Amino acid sequence: MCGIIARIGHDDAAETLLSGLENLEYRGYDSAGIAVQNGSGVKVHKCSGEVSDLKSTLDVHPNGNMGIGHTRWSTHGPPTDENAHPHTDTVGDVAVVHNGVIDNYDELKADLKANGHEFESDTDTEVIPHLIDEYRTETGDTELAVRRAVDTLEGSYAIAAIVDGENAVYAARKGSPLVLGLNDEEWFLASDVPAFLDYTDEVIYLEDGDIVVLNPDSYRITDLEGSPVDRPVDTVDWDPEDAGKGEYDHYMLKEINTQPTALSNTIEGRVEDGDVAFETLPADSFEDIDTVQFVACGTSYHAAMYGAQLLRTAGVRTEVIRASEYESMSGPVDENTLVVAVTQSGETADTLDAVRRATDGGAQSLAVTNVVGSTAARTADDAVYIRAGPEVGVAATKTFSSQAVTLALLTQRIAADVPDATPAEDRAAMLEDLENLPQHVETVLETSQAEALARETVDSESYFFIGNGLGHSVALEGALKFKEITYEHAEGFASGELKHGPLALVTEQTPLFAVATGDDKKTKTNAIEAQSRGAPIVAIGPDEHPLVDVADTHLSVPDTHPVWAGLLANVQLQLLSYHAANLLGRPIDKPRNLAKSVTVE
Ligand code: F6R
Repeated sequence: MCGIIARIGHDDAAETLLSGLENLEYRGYDSAGIAVQNGSGVKVHKCSGEVSDLKSTLDVHPNGNMGIGHTRWSTHGPPTDENAHPHTDTVGDVAVVHNGVIDNYDELKADLKANGHEFESDTDTEVIPHLIDEYRTETGDTELAVRRAVDTLEGSYAIAAIVDGENAVYAARKGSPLVLGLNDEEWFLASDVPAFLDYTDEVIYLEDGDIVVLNPDSYRITDLEGSPVDRPVDTVDWDPEDAGKGEYDHYMLKEINTQPTALSNTIEGRVEDGDVAFETLPADSFEDIDTVQFVACGTSYHAAMYGAQLLRTAGVRTEVIRASEYESMSGPVDENTLVVAVTQSGETADTLDAVRRATDGGAQSLAVTNVVGSTAARTADDAVYIRAGPEVGVAATKTFSSQAVTLALLTQRIAADVPDATPAEDRAAMLEDLENLPQHVETVLETSQAEALARETVDSESYFFIGNGLGHSVALEGALKFKEITYEHAEGFASGELKHGPLALVTEQTPLFAVATGDDKKTKTNAIEAQSRGAPIVAIGPDEHPLVDVADTHLSVPDTHPVWAGLLANVQLQLLSYHAANLLGRPIDKPRNLAKSVTVE
């Protein structure tokens, strides 16, 4: 769960590496470092802290036309200067950055130590530069040494290496993402496209087993045996501005506010003449499916709950399973099972593991993801993109909305194929209202009173969120967002569950946010029960909802089809969390202990 970058060209690399690392910080931000070289030694600069801390230690940027960089989210060893990447071999000729986990590093380290190698960190990564050094000494050929080194590694990796005196960057991937960026002047390698989107939108998505050698004027991709491999060049349709903060104080606020555009992109071309069409899923794609399993984690799980409920309503046998629990929760699957992996990043280890388990059992698979070329998109049989654009804030916001809409459309598409399933009776009305969703979100953004409400409630003891039906997933998402960026205690419940235990916690110090979006039956009665025990009730829903009359406060959303109303309520809850966290002075885009892309199980 780290970000790596490499760059080689004809002029100095340091500036580009540092700005690339800033765009990768969502992947981890407990330490950072770069290494550059210009033929007279590899210069490593690294420290614990954020990229801004690293920058402040560099009075002048080191010279060198090639370099590597890393931003860390620690797994092996605490976030110290020594454990920050890049790591080097004993004499400092080989420098390596790594994203992933090396499972057999203990035994490799023992062998290397026995051969005289000296180690400085607690990390698993440090064995890699030592291995490359060992095999270089044996073979006199760095490329061969890199291939042999990665062949020795067990686990997952995306690595980039530079070697003193060599005008080259070496890289390899297995199980962790790595993208090659190409322009006329320079080449890049990075964990994700935003790292170099300011410089190019031409990319090659590398595959597991690929070895890359970059020289200033050429690049080569081979397999582990050294045979050339051909990979297509793609053009990314993300705008560099999408990856920046723009006029906003935080990425999260920008991403909340750009949801109307994100949703327009999600919907574009997918609803035609009252029908749903997906570019990669021709009619009858799902005709042999009898069961659909959604697998996901965190916010994506809440979006999956949303989609699963709609599919169940359409009469399709549907399960929604937390990816980390897939092994124990999934019953038998077969070729008539479709597993839908919902993952913004497309790299979440638990979700990928669930997909592999399901496909090993014979299931068909579909990834619903934001990232073209991601591991989920390549592992699953098919992929549907949510088209939200890059999301940098660690708290998922616009991707939740785009996932939920994509899944709502997908359910209609699946229900059209599965025998005996019935697409929504009022599908025409639902799809018509979908066209207005971006405008409705705009209205919420323009009129929201969430900031004032955050001011009123910010000193509370705990925050409870309830919802019923589609509102249940919105309540869970509201609570997750609130706790992850405010660090305050927040819990989400199905409305009817409140009285089965949680009610004991309710006092006048615990505001209750009730998602009241129209398809809920139990929210009003349960909210009133909490109110009579002193809890201030906030209704989040359209003005006409019966709960609004009894609630103490109301966050209003435009009147729309019940399928979309929950998504509008969710925007209000995103704003509430954002403003509460801002008032509490929290580091909103980089909440403590969290990283955006969770590539360990
Ligand atoms: C919360 C959040 C996480 C992710 C989860 C899954 O704001 O972002 O809960 O939703 O880690 O990530 P993806 O969707 O990349 O699989």
